[in-house]
Amino acid sequence: MGSGQWHVEKRSTFRNDSIVKEYGTVLETGCLSIIVLGASGDLAKKKTFPALFNLYRQGFLNPDEVHIFGYARTKISDEELRNRIRGYLVDEKNAEQAEALAKFLQLIKYVSGPYDSEEGFEKLDRAISEHEISKNSTEGSSRRLFYLALPPSVYPSVCKMIKTCCMNKSDLGGWTRIVVEKPFGKDLESAEQLSSQIGELFEESQIYRIDHYLGKELVQNMLVLRFANRFFLPLWNRDNIENVQIVFREDFGTEGRGGYFDEYGIIRDIIQNHLLQVLCLVAMEKPISLKPEHIRDEKVKVLQSVVPIKDEEVVLGQYEGYRDDPTVPNESNTPTFATTILRIHNERWEGVPFILKAGKALNSRKAEIRIQFKDVPGDIFKCQKQGRNEFVIRLQPSEAMYMKLTVKQPGLEMHTVQSELDLSYGQRYQGVSIPEAYERLILDTLRGRSSRRCFTGLTKEK
Ligand code: NDP
Ligand code: BG6
Repeated sequence: MGSGQWHVEKRSTFRNDSIVKEYGTVLETGCLSIIVLGASGDLAKKKTFPALFNLYRQGFLNPDEVHIFGYARTKISDEELRNRIRGYLVDEKNAEQAEALAKFLQLIKYVSGPYDSEEGFEKLDRAISEHEISKNSTEGSSRRLFYLALPPSVYPSVCKMIKTCCMNKSDLGGWTRIVVEKPFGKDLESAEQLSSQIGELFEESQIYRIDHYLGKELVQNMLVLRFANRFFLPLWNRDNIENVQIVFREDFGTEGRGGYFDEYGIIRDIIQNHLLQVLCLVAMEKPISLKPEHIRDEKVKVLQSVVPIKDEEVVLGQYEGYRDDPTVPNESNTPTFATTILRIHNERWEGVPFILKAGKALNSRKAEIRIQFKDVPGDIFKCQKQGRNEFVIRLQPSEAMYMKLTVKQPGLEMHTVQSELDLSYGQRYQGVSIPEAYERLILDTLRGRSSRRCFTGLTKEK
C-alpha cells in the first residue's frame, strides 16, 4: 500500500453505495492522475476509457481531484481523442449520461510522443505536474496511475521512461503505480526478462498485472460456486466429469489492431492468459483461504500438473480476410483461431480432457465454461435419453449458469426430455447492474488491492 492519506468519504454524490459497500468507505484523497499509454488504441477506446467513465459516473473518481491523460505516438489533439472515444462511452441520447459525459471528456488531455524518448515523457510529466499544482498539493498527496494499454514489446522502454521522467514528486506522500496488460511477454524467456526489467525499476507493490477475465462477474463467482456449494464437491472430479470445455469466440476480427495482434496471435492473446486463468479456477483445489497468495499457490499447482501439449491435439486457423486489414502484414501466418486439449496429471483430473478454444471473426460472440458429465452407469432410460448432464457457466454475453438434466416429460407417458435448471442473471437479478471487469480492476488498482492481479510474475518465486 502506498503512503497516501486516507479518509472516510462523506460526499454521497461521489460514490455508488452498493460498490462502496464492497470496497469499504475508506478513500484516499489527493490529486489523482490517470495516464493511459497507448490512448490511440483499441483497448483504450473500448475498455479503459469506458471503465473510467463508469467509475466517474458512479462517484469513484472525484472531479475535484482527477485528471486523465492519454499518451501515444499518433498525432491528434485533445478534441480528436475525445471524439474517438466518445461513441464508446455512452448512449448520448440518455440525457443524464450525456451531461456526465461532457464533464468527463473535459478531464481528458492528450500528449503525443514516442515510447522511448525522454523528450516525450518529460512533456507528459510537465502536463501532469501542471495539473497537480493547480489541483493539489496544499492538501493531500499526488497519485499517478500509469496504464499501459500497449503491446508488451514496448513495456520495458515505457517503464524506463516513466521511472526516469514521470514519478510522483509530491512531498506529502502519494504513489506511482503501473498497470501492465497481458500477454506478459511472448514466451518464458521474454516473460522472465520483462519481469526482471520491470522489477529493477519498480517495487512489486507498484506493479499491477491485469487479466481482465478475472474481473468478470462469473469468473469471480467460480470460487464461491465450487467451494460454497456442498453438492458440487463430490462431483467435481474424474469419476463424474467426462470433459471440460472453455470457449472464447468473437464475431469481429482484429480491425486495425494488427500492430499488436499480429505479433502475438490468438494463443498468446486469449488462451495463455484468459482461458488458462479460467482453467485454473475450474481445476484447482480449495485454497486454505481467500488470500491472493493462497489462491495463487493452488493455481500454480494446476499449471505445474499440465502435461506438455501434443502437436496432434492442436488446431490452428486464420480467418479469411485477416490479411486485408492494412495493419496486418500481407504474408502473415498468425493464427486467429486455435483449439487445444490440456491434460492435468493429478488425482482429481487424470484422463479428463480440458478443451480450450478461441477464435476471432466467428459467427457469434460468447465466452463459456461447459462441464460435461459422464453417462449414468446402468442407465435404464438409455433408449430415450436426450443427452448427458452438462453444467454451463456463460461468462458473456448475458451472464448465466445452467444445468442440463434429463426429466420426465410432463404427461401420461413415461418419456424423458432434456431440460434446464437456469440461473440467468438478467432475470434473477433484475435491476442489478453488473460492473464491467475493467471497472473492478481499475478501482482495485486505485485502492491498492492486489487480489485480482494476474500473478504471472510471481510464479517465478515458487
Ligand atoms: P492496438 O494495436 O490498438 O495498440 C494500442 C496502441 O499501441 C496503438 O494505438 C499504437 O499507438 C500502439 N502500438 C501498436 N502497435 C505498436 C507497436 N508494434 N509498437 C509500438 N506501439 C504500438 O492494441 P490493443 O489496444 O488492442 O492492445 C494493447 C494491449 O491491451 C495488448 O497487450 C492487449 O493484449 C491488451 N488488451 C486489449 C484488449 C482489447 O479489447 N483491445 C482487451 C484486453 C487487453 P500509437 O501508434 O499511436 O503509438
Ligand atoms: C483481450 C484481447 O484481452 O480480450 C482481445 O486482446 C479481445 O483480442 C478481448 O477482443 C476480449 O475481451 P472481452 O472482455 O470483450 O471478452
